[in-house]
Amino acid sequence: MTSLQVELGSRSYPIHIGSGILHEPELFRPALRSGPIVLLSDDQVAPLYLGALRETLRGERPITEIVVPAGEGSKSLAQVETVCGQMLAAGIGRDATLCALGGGVIGDLGGFVAAIYQRGIAFLQVPTTLLAMVDSSVGGKTGVNHPLGKNMIGAFHQPRAVIADLDTLDSLPEREFRSGLAEVIKYGLINDPGFFAWMEENLTAILAGDSEALVHVVHSSCANKAAVVARDELEGGLRAILNYGHTFAHAIEAATGFGTYLHGEAVAIGMVMAADLSRRLDLLRESEQGQIFRLIQAAGLPTHAPRLPAEEYLRYMRIDKKACGGQIRFILLRGIGEAIITGDVPEAALRQTLSAFTE
Ligand code: NAD
Ligand code: GLY
Repeated sequence: MTSLQVELGSRSYPIHIGSGILHEPELFRPALRSGPIVLLSDDQVAPLYLGALRETLRGERPITEIVVPAGEGSKSLAQVETVCGQMLAAGIGRDATLCALGGGVIGDLGGFVAAIYQRGIAFLQVPTTLLAMVDSSVGGKTGVNHPLGKNMIGAFHQPRAVIADLDTLDSLPEREFRSGLAEVIKYGLINDPGFFAWMEENLTAILAGDSEALVHVVHSSCANKAAVVARDELEGGLRAILNYGHTFAHAIEAATGFGTYLHGEAVAIGMVMAADLSRRLDLLRESEQGQIFRLIQAAGLPTHAPRLPAEEYLRYMRIDKKACGGQIRFILLRGIGEAIITGDVPEAALRQTLSAFTE
């Protein structure tokens, strides 16, 4: 097992990464409050791992289990009300700990419920997708979608621990695994050129599920994210770089109907587009743009979005949470490993990028 710490003063917490650690009560114990445990999962993950987690926590505290339908549709205010209702009916008080077992949907939903239930209870993240292990379980962004936009209702609420059992990835569909890799590649691009180069060299081992490679993937990703979050927890500035590719991605997800692309697939296309835009603005060399394109393609991720009128994409980009005074703000690359945040992007260049990477 390997561990690292997210340094946030009194709200600091550990991230534990390893094989079989779902079965180790001593990793969970320090994160539990004195009251009952609420185990939240979805109906695809629960049959696989809820029993094991229940067994690990048996004897620690009384347990209430809540299972919601799998999928992005559960990230809704309606589902928040349902889960809160089940917790109230079970007599759950403020001394409870909510344990989110699943992918990013369960982590975001569970974290948001924990943020608002009786004005806030403790929670911990037990991620079971690669995407959740390397990104969504770390950093305290929680929330749900609104029909008018993704992740538009939410709160910052840090978990008390993240416990990532790599064995759970064995049952993860390959498409979901590749989707998670997009966020991994992102860390190399925005912050860590050495990690990007390591991925270029080790992609075959990563895709084959080599355990040493996986530990490195998850540990380095979490270390990169933790470093950014520690410097800018509430996204006053720097943290926005974690959204590299996401302005395009959120527009692609919304314009094509949520669920057509997995989140990481849309991020992959968004990263290709953001690299193209960076090159058009003379920030990124053509050779680096080529390297980025090749790694994303070799990871089995899509590189082009469907050809819709540019206005369709631009409409959603304008309501991005980073937009400021109606101006879209982009995370661009000044070389592999260095991200910048800018609103200074001529619309003509943006339209050229949308035209070049839609088909
Ligand atoms: P997900 O939670 O929907 O999981 C994907 C699918 O895999 C689901 O059907 C789930 O039931 C299934 N699954 C999960 N673990 C499994 C396992 N071990 N074996 C078999 N099946 C398993 O999706 P995701 O990709 O994990 O997360 C996407 C969500 O995360 C999006 O809503 C996105 O907005 C959010 N997100 C949040 C943050 C953040 O900082 N909070 C960051 C990135 C993404
Ligand atoms: N996934 C972006 C962030 O956590 O800030």
